[in-house]
Amino acid sequence: MASDSAIGIHDLSFATTGFVLPHTALAEHNGTDIGKYHVGIGQHSMSVAGADEDIVTMGAAAAAPIISRHGADQIRTLVFATESSIDQAKSAGVYVHSLLGLPSATRVVELKQACYGATAALQFAIGLVHRDPAQRVLVIASDISKYELDSPGEATQGAAAVAMLVTADPALVRIEEPSGLFTADVMDFWRPNYRDAALVDGQESITAYLQAVEGTWKDYQEQGGRSLEEFSAFCYHQPFTKMAHKAHRHLLNTCGYDTDESDIKRAIGQTTACNTVVGNSYTASVYLALAALLDHADDLSGRPVGFLSYGSGSVAEFFAGTVVPGYRAHLRTEAHREAIEGRRLLDYAAYRELHEWSFPTDGGDHPTPAQTTGPFRLAALRGHKRIYERR
Ligand code: CAA
Repeated sequence: MASDSAIGIHDLSFATTGFVLPHTALAEHNGTDIGKYHVGIGQHSMSVAGADEDIVTMGAAAAAPIISRHGADQIRTLVFATESSIDQAKSAGVYVHSLLGLPSATRVVELKQACYGATAALQFAIGLVHRDPAQRVLVIASDISKYELDSPGEATQGAAAVAMLVTADPALVRIEEPSGLFTADVMDFWRPNYRDAALVDGQESITAYLQAVEGTWKDYQEQGGRSLEEFSAFCYHQPFTKMAHKAHRHLLNTCGYDTDESDIKRAIGQTTACNTVVGNSYTASVYLALAALLDHADDLSGRPVGFLSYGSGSVAEFFAGTVVPGYRAHLRTEAHREAIEGRRLLDYAAYRELHEWSFPTDGGDHPTPAQTTGPFRLAALRGHKRIYERR
């Protein structure tokens, strides 16, 4: 059996949508001072999905480079985490399984608990690899964050998918025990089945997140976790990047430290580069923070990183990972840069049109306009079935 400390993230790849709306366009439309977006919430732009992309096309685009590099032979499980699911019964992961041509001897399942789902998937994957270290688990977190037009949440929309290959003797990050856990029944953010856009109590959601930071840290300490001083950086769930700032300040205060802006910047500064231009990617967000950290920070070999995964409702987990020496040879920095820079700029009117676009619910056949150029596309709704194509 592999020890817990020798299981973790072997490869990590992310994808986002084909379109981007800069916050300057939103600010111009609604008369908001751009300082509120750039400084107040720490967001510069948001990824917007075209009519022919969704969590499946993004998830497949994130995972395809992992399959090309490592093959699919040892992957016997695919866990798809999302809170913007496309079907009440069938896992989005089954579509990805098909698009990537994975072996039939695979178990595929979808997990949900708001933005926390990918961390549950990661922990389940570690359990499976612990049982049989020869097996590999493909974890995909994919989400489109959508709030109502002209609502306070609108500025915190976004979309992305992160794919992670979880293995024994990983090349990037060894995930450690213990974890600090926290669950509380709160209605800070939710999306009833009949709605496209989430409902949210903004200030309540920030308070609930900060309570979860405190709760997970307390449990992490009680379980014998590392001390705060040991960590080189902290990857927080980032619904907007200023939230990571608030969360780390709260953690410092909880541990009895005064708030020192330079300490906060040092701890989270390298983790916000992707989220500030992609926006909220729900389940993927905390792992997008990890991608940004690994891609942009100075050498982190052997250094512990803290992870705070928060999912409204709420469930949260704090855990640690150690960056594996030599990890830089396995990064996808250039591809990640291209995914972000390759998005096409939308003006406000075009964004609004995409925001309002959805398939008719008349049961008819509806092709989607070919808007995007990524490796996978949602081609149509036909006979109540979503039809995907590989380019
Ligand atoms: N220049 C600089 N800063 C400015 C400014 C200006 N001109 N104008 C305002 N600001 C600052 C404010 O002072 C405030 O900063 P602080 O929070 O540090 O005080 C910040 O900008 C935001 O201003 P408001 O609080 O007035 O903004 P708002 O009422 O429009 O709402 C929001 C902000 C609550 C985050 C809203 O966007 C929202 O509801 N978002 C969705 C919910 C969310 O993301 N919650 C996070 C926790 S829940 C979670 O993490 C799960 C998840 O993914 C959803």
